[in-house]
Amino acid sequence: MAQNAPSWIANLRGGFIVFDGPDGGGKSTQFRRFASLVSAAGVGVCEVREPGGTEIGEQVRRVLLDPHNKEEIDLNCEMLLFMASRAQLVAQRIRPARAEGRLVLADRFISSTLAYQGTAGGLSRDDIVNAGKIALRDCWPDLVVIFDVDEATASARMNPLLRPQEFAADKDRIEARGDGFHKRVRQGYLEQARLDPQHHVVIDATPAPDEVFTRLVKAIGERFTTPR
Ligand code: TYD
Repeated sequence: MAQNAPSWIANLRGGFIVFDGPDGGGKSTQFRRFASLVSAAGVGVCEVREPGGTEIGEQVRRVLLDPHNKEEIDLNCEMLLFMASRAQLVAQRIRPARAEGRLVLADRFISSTLAYQGTAGGLSRDDIVNAGKIALRDCWPDLVVIFDVDEATASARMNPLLRPQEFAADKDRIEARGDGFHKRVRQGYLEQARLDPQHHVVIDATPAPDEVFTRLVKAIGERFTTPR
């Protein structure tokens, strides 16, 4: 353990934490910072992002996010493609990393499907959870951190003229959906946290990134006070 590192970081070995939330919440910046903190403390980190993270998953990602897809994708097809990419990621990267005692940090996971294809898209929670049982087997996250922002802040961060550097990149097919959709996405995340508070923590992502990071570290520390 590196000096000055919080002692609870050692308890993250073999753990699985997901960073998730609506587009424009700034989770990817927090993800990089948290991964650096943990690895500087001497705990190995396996970073994965969804959709993608494996060669097969990256090919699925292109199908899912391509703004030039001419056909309207069927919602069940979309959900199962996300799940298929996830099954590959679990088998190829997540399960082996945990077995080696590394912390798995995922940028999005099944919580995204529950919010985007479920609450916002209209698929039932049961259908998604059942497909998830096949894709994940027993590999469910210990904790899902939800970076919550209101729609106004999120869409300002998504606006190319207003957003700061860390929110760069053009809108993909899913980001390009309307305001009503994104509002429901946010509600979907908050509902997941309400239904299962033991495995979720909601972080207000409106303040400046340094403040968000301080709150994030505190919240994770409180959940990992003992070794897993
Ligand atoms: P990405 O460019 O990775 O966005 P971000 O940087 O915000 O993570 O695109 C992922 C998009 O796919 C994002 O809009 C959320 C959406 N998505 C789903 O709709 N369902 C899912 O299961 C996942 C993992 C992502």
